[in-house]
Amino acid sequence: MKGILLAGGNGTRLLPLTKYINKHLLPVGKHPMIAYGISKLREAGVTEILLITGSRSLGLYAEYLENGKDFGVSLTYRVQHQAGGIAEALELANGFVSPGDKFIVLLGDNLFQDELTPYIRSYMKQPAGSAMVLLSPQDHPNRYGVPVFAEDGSGSLLYIEEKPEHPQSQYAVTGIYMYDDSVFEKIRKIHPSQRGELEITDVNNLYATEGKLKYELLQKWWCDAGTFESLQEAAARMKDVLP
Ligand code: G1P
Repeated sequence: MKGILLAGGNGTRLLPLTKYINKHLLPVGKHPMIAYGISKLREAGVTEILLITGSRSLGLYAEYLENGKDFGVSLTYRVQHQAGGIAEALELANGFVSPGDKFIVLLGDNLFQDELTPYIRSYMKQPAGSAMVLLSPQDHPNRYGVPVFAEDGSGSLLYIEEKPEHPQSQYAVTGIYMYDDSVFEKIRKIHPSQRGELEITDVNNLYATEGKLKYELLQKWWCDAGTFESLQEAAARMKDVLP
């Protein structure tokens, strides 16, 4: 299975820290944030990785990670010319993954403790044309995509609301997604949201409408290090995770 690591965006919630430095290169413990995503993919045996970032930061990533050899992976790079959203960035992976391939997408600011292997195994058993999201219970889910479940006790995920004022469950949809090439056709069907981005939640909702969006729950700590508070929490948690 191949991996796509997304490291673009403007990191506006972390200004002025992100005025010159791309969010995913900010220090977390002893390493730049991106090192943890790479290490999580490698731990699960995902060693062919496409890293997508903006043109301004590409040189820094290439200098730091080179071809990935020192990190035990093989890296390819692609440039997202403007911060047009996660789904827009993901479209750049078309061609990196072959028709019929299943792949995992990781947002570079998502830091977590669970191993990815069991989730990947479970997704590999899903039929072609379906997708998987991983959920994490959160005290303030309104900061994230939030799943809405069927009330019939079946546990089916009906749809996802992006940063709802009144969340209908206690879960965040994490930035760990699994797809096959059906995702590119779905990306072509969506339109920019109010914040002017192609939202990954809109893509996932197309799967949900067709009953093809499955989910699993992360068992351990997860955070999206996109705010000062969560960045500090992540730094404390990840202090000794990588040597
Ligand atoms: C994005 C997704 C959101 C998800 C979050 C996880 O939010 O749109 O659904 O819960 O990543 O990190 P963003 O960080 O772009 O606001």
